[in-house]
Amino acid sequence: MVPAKSPTIKLNNGVEMPVLGVGSFALPTIQAADDIAFALQNGYRLVDTATNYGNEKEVGEGIKRSGVKRSELFVTTKLWIEDFGYDNAIKGFENSLKLLGLDYIDLYILHWPVPTDFDKTVQAYKALEKLYVDKKIRAIGVSNFTIEHLENLMKQTSVVPAINQVELHPYLIQKDLRGFHKNHGIVTECWGPIGGELTNSASNPTAPIRLLQDYTIVKLAEKYKKVTAQIVLRWHVQNGMIAIPKSQHYERLLYNIDIFDFELTADDMAAIDNLNKNLHGGPLPNLFDVAAFKKIIAGRKTKIQA
Ligand SMILES: NC(=O)c1ccc[n+]([C@@H]2O[C@H](COP(=O)([O-])OP(=O)(O)OC[C@H]3O[C@@H](n4cnc5c(N)ncnc54)[C@H](OP(=O)(O)O)[C@@H]3O)[C@@H](O)[C@H]2O)c1
Repeated sequence: MVPAKSPTIKLNNGVEMPVLGVGSFALPTIQAADDIAFALQNGYRLVDTATNYGNEKEVGEGIKRSGVKRSELFVTTKLWIEDFGYDNAIKGFENSLKLLGLDYIDLYILHWPVPTDFDKTVQAYKALEKLYVDKKIRAIGVSNFTIEHLENLMKQTSVVPAINQVELHPYLIQKDLRGFHKNHGIVTECWGPIGGELTNSASNPTAPIRLLQDYTIVKLAEKYKKVTAQIVLRWHVQNGMIAIPKSQHYERLLYNIDIFDFELTADDMAAIDNLNKNLHGGPLPNLFDVAAFKKIIAGRKTKIQA
């Protein structure tokens, strides 16, 4: 078995989490088990999935097929907003556990805040606190929370989230949010780390902007003799963040984790910071709820069919 390729970072409860993992959003179910097994057999140890991706069963199958010991793995899944509220959250968790074929989850995350009914978000978080006390999850996380959401949540609950998983890449560097995380011992985990919806996403074929074709990134890739995705992923980990790029191409999976043998200079890190455009590829957290989500999905289907 190939040894773990990613270093780890210590979360605020002492649990160690790899800084580079594999994502699974929009990973077709027919391919998910093979993709995840391949990633784990090639040095990945962190897997990110979610109830809403509809592939927990296949991701679980990939984990089993990989042959990597459970104790070496770090598995994250997320509670979908339609399962918010205390009792529903416990049921949602049990369902994920069953689909994944596991008996605990390393990091369990609230997928989005529901700002229009924040009390339900808080109740779901309290259920995660109970799962944490019962040792069914090793750490609690949130996702897509703004500073305001975090402050509001932390006022009403006892466990400070270990992680906030947010859209973050060189076109959206989220400086203020990262500062808040640092002050409260919350690790920043980045989704869409290489551009996600702004990159090659099949769900957004007309995306006008290609982070991986940005002139600065292309020039840095030439300088370091790396591919563009490796430059961007290296920028994430050198910033003390966790990144979970997804790919359904084996060659790209291998590139994406092969970023621990070089270091970007301070000037090159700053040049990447300067690409920031505050550009969101995904939805805005303050405007998110079930209805908004369904509208986004319907819009994407129309676009793909067009
Ligand atoms: N918490 C949340 O709300 C949330 C939201 C979105 C995503 N996520 C999580 O974060 C993970 C990553 O985000 P993401 O999948 O949206 O975006 P991403 O990882 O930044 O980008 C994925 C896109 O980049 C392409 N790609 C991957 N490696 C590449 C490489 N080396 N060179 C060129 N293109 C490459 C992929 O295409 P191919 O697959 O065709 O290679 C795919 O189209 C997700 O998979 C999911 O687990 C969380």
